[in-house]
Amino acid sequence: MCGIVGFIGNKNAKDIILNGLTRLEYRGYDSAGLSLFNNRYQIFDVYKDEGRVQKLIDSTKNAPFSNIGIGHTRWATHGRVNQENSHPHYSQTRRFIIVHNGVIENYQQLKDQYLSKSKFYSETDTEVIAQLIETFSQTLHVENAITTTLKLLHGSYALLVLDANDPEKIYAAKYKSPLVIGKSSEGITIASDLMALIGYSNTYHPLEDKTFVVARKDDVRVFNLDHLPIDVEFKPLELTDTDTTKGEFAHYMMKEIHEQPSVIRRIITNYFVPNQTFINPEIIQSIQGSDRVYILAAGTSMHAGLVGKQLLEKLAFIPVEVHIASEFAYQKPLLSKNPFFILITQSGETADLRACVVSINEMKYKSLTITNVPTSTLAREATYSLELFAGPEIAVASTKAYVAQVSVLAILAYELSSKSFDIKKELSIAALSIEHFLENQAMLYLTRNYLTKRNCFFIGRGLDYLVGLEAALKLKEISYIQTEGFAAGELKHGTIALIEDGTPVIALISDPTINGNTRSNLKEVQARGANTFRIVMESCKQEGDQVILEDVHPLLTPLVMVVPTQLIAYYAALERSYDIDKPRNLAKSVTVE
Ligand code: F6R
Repeated sequence: MCGIVGFIGNKNAKDIILNGLTRLEYRGYDSAGLSLFNNRYQIFDVYKDEGRVQKLIDSTKNAPFSNIGIGHTRWATHGRVNQENSHPHYSQTRRFIIVHNGVIENYQQLKDQYLSKSKFYSETDTEVIAQLIETFSQTLHVENAITTTLKLLHGSYALLVLDANDPEKIYAAKYKSPLVIGKSSEGITIASDLMALIGYSNTYHPLEDKTFVVARKDDVRVFNLDHLPIDVEFKPLELTDTDTTKGEFAHYMMKEIHEQPSVIRRIITNYFVPNQTFINPEIIQSIQGSDRVYILAAGTSMHAGLVGKQLLEKLAFIPVEVHIASEFAYQKPLLSKNPFFILITQSGETADLRACVVSINEMKYKSLTITNVPTSTLAREATYSLELFAGPEIAVASTKAYVAQVSVLAILAYELSSKSFDIKKELSIAALSIEHFLENQAMLYLTRNYLTKRNCFFIGRGLDYLVGLEAALKLKEISYIQTEGFAAGELKHGTIALIEDGTPVIALISDPTINGNTRSNLKEVQARGANTFRIVMESCKQEGDQVILEDVHPLLTPLVMVVPTQLIAYYAALERSYDIDKPRNLAKSVTVE
């Protein structure tokens, strides 16, 4: 959701920014823009419009060389999707040019209080920042004008600022929204995501909140908002192009589905150093010392959390509640005396979870973030963090992150348990089962013949019901078919009224002890005209079942059962020629509440 890239150095900033913005496209956006210095006229040119980065690439084809620039992809929050509201924005005289991620909650008040005489060019909250900097710069040094402005802002920001009077510097600032600085001998790149630094930076530093940066082509200084210098550490950037390209696959989503066995294996390697897990013993002690675990997450990560609850309760006998982050943040349940919080998030930047962690920290409770991005805001703000090791997930629809989340939760639950089985072996068996299925899958057939209606249902019991919830989210988000996941036994209490001739109902059956029950529910919908399909584990198979998966440990079935449902979603979207990796209205990293 919104991407920022800025560059200052010895190369053409345009190429680096456009490549970076292309790499950030996966975050979701509706407009793109760029500002470059025009040496001839000594001004910053601004190119921006609604639409894809490709449009920006075309419109800046003849832009003159500039070694400094900032770019942005916008996901509209304040103001319609149009050229005027696209970033970069500028101050009244066009001296200051800015790009911004985040939301300025008090923009109207700032406008009324300080800017009643300024001429505004857009409907955005962002423009207020540019206008304030210009107003304050009339009496203050530029850097003070920026920090004075920053102190007035309520909300969130990742910000890059250019000053046409001094085109040798990029100013940057961060609060709540992510921003990383990358360095190489060729220059400084500042972006909202490490992905944009690949190929241009050897080292990087993720900025802390309330920091202010002055970047020159061969030097970066970081300050707090009182302008006192802060020492920062730059780490080697280990991401490479292969992490961010599609390889032999037509879409990132398909690549990521196929990476799932290797993600599980990478988790095993990273979490087990010969016989001991790598999990910080303090995490185990904190959970053991708590009386209840609260899992907080959104979307797919919340679905992984539902499986996590089963793992923790069944293996470790710890009571667990799972809450949707956006609800928990403002509608807290009655908490137990000694709670422990687990935040599950692929991106580590989800604003709904950020709101939760802020209040958890205020209440002085301990928390653990399980995330794919160890440098992310949520990893840093929780007491502890655990990494998913899934590698960059670029398709908006989450696949390998779910499998990684369930795997890490399984290891955590196992560590808290009496360790009555070999989790490494069981996870390896699950990886193999996925691999064998992916070698033989023929899902295209399914989508052609079954998903012909406006709606679809996934049904299952126990863990299969939880997988059904995720399966339904995946199918609806990329194929736009109205899909629901239902507890198979619950259908007859209402939902069965929706079943008519040809309604697709996909049953998930992995548990032999309730195999018969789910099949009875299938019979009920068949009797009402449903077009049924079965995805089952070997130990549950019966004549005519369409997808049969190799058996795995009964608590790890979601890792495997979810994979055919990901492919169903993929092929349904492919069949309809939809943009599989960038479904409409969605963003990868949801940084607004
Ligand atoms: C669905 C999907 C979303 C995310 C949700 C939370 O495919 O990707 O539902 O799971 O937006 O995002 P994270 O995990 O980054 O907090």
